[in-house]
Amino acid sequence: MAWIFGYGSIIWNPGFPYLERSLARAEGWKRRFWQGSTDHRGLPERPGRVVTLVRDRRESCVGLAYRVDPARARLICERLDVREKGGYQRREVELQLADSRRVQALTYVARPGNPDYLGGDRPQVLARQILQASGPSGQNWDYLQRLAQVLRDLGVDDPHVFGLESLCQRLLRGG
Ligand code: SIN
Repeated sequence: MAWIFGYGSIIWNPGFPYLERSLARAEGWKRRFWQGSTDHRGLPERPGRVVTLVRDRRESCVGLAYRVDPARARLICERLDVREKGGYQRREVELQLADSRRVQALTYVARPGNPDYLGGDRPQVLARQILQASGPSGQNWDYLQRLAQVLRDLGVDDPHVFGLESLCQRLLRGG
């Protein structure tokens, strides 16, 4: 598979070489802070929350598609498998690129039922959990801010991400 789709940390930190990069839309999926993180942005005793893709026919998720050298794809995926080992599995998604091309891409999805899966909750609960967690890759709040910033820079609207960011800012101000 020559395309890799990133919708979370892979947007701001792909960590692999690529030949081309494009905004890309995955129809029928939404981005949600529903996956627990015990190895990057949290700890087993205090999991953080990171994004996964959740099936929803009415929604779509915009992220970045990277075209990689087919000769390097296997090694890139093996490294991503290690990085995304906290509950994510490879799967294929269909994408529409900014120039209207349709491509199949490999992405990492944390499905319900994996040991770290947390699922949805009230925004207040998600925001508090994010503000309290940190792990080997840094603070969970930093992950949310980076994601919100890179989506803003790319001109991508995501009410779930921006709503959580605003809520965290309010909580930090004591509101
Ligand atoms: C992704 O970035 O595409 C997967 C989720 C993450 O690592 O944040």
